Amino acid sequence: MPLSFVSKLKDASSVFTFRDFILLPGRSEVEPRDIDLSTRLSRNLKLSIPVVSSPMDTVTEWRMALELAKAGGVGVIHRNLAVEDQVSQVLKVKEARAEVRSVDSKGRPLVGAAISPMDASRCSALDRVADFLVSDVAHFHNSNVMKSAASVIPSLSKDFIVGNVGTRRAIHEIVNELPRVDGFRVGIGSGSVCITSELTRVGAPTLFAVAEVATAVSELNLDIPIIADGGIRSPGDASLALASGSSCVMLGSALAGAEESPTRPVVLGGKKMKIHRGMASAAARKVRFALDRYTVPSKGLEEGVEAYVPYSGTVSEVIRRFCDGLRASFGYSGARDIRNLWDAATFGLVTPQGSSELGVHSLDRKAGG
Ligand code: XMP
Repeated sequence: MPLSFVSKLKDASSVFTFRDFILLPGRSEVEPRDIDLSTRLSRNLKLSIPVVSSPMDTVTEWRMALELAKAGGVGVIHRNLAVEDQVSQVLKVKEARAEVRSVDSKGRPLVGAAISPMDASRCSALDRVADFLVSDVAHFHNSNVMKSAASVIPSLSKDFIVGNVGTRRAIHEIVNELPRVDGFRVGIGSGSVCITSELTRVGAPTLFAVAEVATAVSELNLDIPIIADGGIRSPGDASLALASGSSCVMLGSALAGAEESPTRPVVLGGKKMKIHRGMASAAARKVRFALDRYTVPSKGLEEGVEAYVPYSGTVSEVIRRFCDGLRASFGYSGARDIRNLWDAATFGLVTPQGSSELGVHSLDRKAGG
């Protein structure tokens, strides 16, 4: 039995979230339009903007992925469908004749695919067609998941992004036990439609998780990019995630309202909306294919909800607004690119009492204003 339960409580880590921090203004040498948002997605892949769409069935099918490749980011096709249907979604992107900024070595659009390391046949089918594979399990730091990944990775030829992970210790162990890792997808329990932390009281909020993983990556002198995943609502959240050591952000709800997400718009109370749901929600689980997103002990639990998000226009408009916001944030912070942001960023801690001052306050907002 541990000697002191009291000291366990007293020595607890501070688990910070996006709402707890701001970036402090810094001396700026470049104008926002000259800021370079190009980045690395994984060990061997580069992007011109740091935006990746979530492998969720209300977010990324071929249309979303193609729009992201056009904008310079990339999409990850979800896996809540039969293997052959996921393969054909990937092929629709690869075979599209469009002008894209994110390209493979043959000039075709770049696209990723979500897999579970426990499903070797899906891994090998998608490895043949997609440019990279993204592990899509809620808790990769699980012995069975890690063993499966260790056995499947040697047969795969594309970059393998491990996720989701959230602690320094997980990185040390994963790197030790896997033959190769080409990227980390980081954050547990912060997703907009996620109730894991609420339900289980376990989680690694994205901002904290990115800092933990980035610390491990630098302690181990690894050259492995980090994708911050979950709870990123605005360009400001994305800047915080990048400033804490990630190279890209993964967006779910922020893209679910876009025209090219897989769902149809509906009108609710006079407003155009789109449905968005957690991949572990009852509705998504009914589709069956992503049932192992949550590892065996929690398979019976619903760890996500179903909700509506406002319709937000085309992906290209959403991404343009998002990148304008990112450039503004980099400009205020005094960073000219992502690497420079890692060095230049200084954080301010927001007290709970003060946080309301950072939003609109002390006035009655005009309707629609
Ligand atoms: P946002 O906040 O961008 O988050 O919508 C997207 C990320 O949320 C995760 N995700 C889930 N997490 N239960 C969870 O605990 C779920 O049902 C669920 N569905 C998605 C996932 O990491 C995604 O990229």
